[in-house]
Amino acid sequence: MTTGPLKQDDLAILLGRLAGEVDASLLKRLNEQVDIQPVLRRAMKYTLEAPGKRIRAVLVLWSCQLVSGQVNDDARTAAAAMEMVHTYSLIHDDLPAMDDDDLRRGRPTCHKAFDEATAILAGDALLTLAFQILAENIKDSDTAVRLIRVLAAAAGPAGMIAGQMDDMTAERQKGTLNRLRQIHLNKTAKMFSAAAGMGAVAGGAQDGQLEALLQYGLKVGLGFQIADDILDVSATSEHLGKTAGKDDEAGKLTYPSLVGLEESSRILEQITREAMAVLEPFGPRADRLRNLAEMLLSRTR
Ligand code: IPE
Ligand code: IPE
Ligand code: MG
Ligand code: MG
Ligand code: MG
Repeated sequence: MTTGPLKQDDLAILLGRLAGEVDASLLKRLNEQVDIQPVLRRAMKYTLEAPGKRIRAVLVLWSCQLVSGQVNDDARTAAAAMEMVHTYSLIHDDLPAMDDDDLRRGRPTCHKAFDEATAILAGDALLTLAFQILAENIKDSDTAVRLIRVLAAAAGPAGMIAGQMDDMTAERQKGTLNRLRQIHLNKTAKMFSAAAGMGAVAGGAQDGQLEALLQYGLKVGLGFQIADDILDVSATSEHLGKTAGKDDEAGKLTYPSLVGLEESSRILEQITREAMAVLEPFGPRADRLRNLAEMLLSRTR
């Protein structure tokens, strides 16, 4: 594995190349499923192939690389499964009954391009397909079960769905930092933690390494959602590829609404430092994950 800190431009090029590989892997896996109803397939493909940043997939791949020295096929499958679940969560998050958004990944949202029923079903289908590709492609059954458990726990009713539920119920309410942190932990950070954890499992990590990577992912995920909240206030819809200013309009409980922009950035920096500290025992081998945490700290989209 190549180590040493990368310059920002080189990191952007590397991330772009990896995102391209993830895109290709997602489409190939969708195409391999021959029996999908045609309209449903178009709706699944529509949001799946739209330009997502593929950050969670990269986290899977680089965690595997960190513990085993290379990216293997199990990590590639886990990365695809992770992105499918994430894409489903976005399709449902945008629905009129949830955040009611018209723009996603620079395109009309799935329910705008198709219709609500199709978007609901496309989300359901991507969620289910994620677990199918894990079950079908991970050769060692113990590894398959472990990957499925990590992803299910993060995405399920004690993870992302709990966070989405609390995010909705906290709208237009007086919130506390504790409640907000719990929402972010569930709706976003647990999926990031699972991404790092799945990469570790795919790479055959020892228990201590797995624990550290789960922790790193959790902290990076908490930071990621704080940055998302900040960008909703400070960036444009064109640049984000999704409608800016929606959180305030919907009365969402966010870091900027609760503590202001400056304090939000300070907390984001603090959490990034904590993520870096977790990587300490890995030494320079973890430089790619350090690069990633740094990049996410100053991301503009
Ligand atoms: C958006 O995630 C949803 C959040 C948890 C903030 P991303 O910002 O990773 O979205 P894509 O995949 O790049 O579109
Ligand atoms: C979404 O959080 C988290 C998910 C689990 C999808 P947001 O609602 O803030 O994400 P965006 O801003 O719509 O991408
Ligand atoms: Mg939301
Ligand atoms: Mg939303
Ligand atoms: Mg947001």
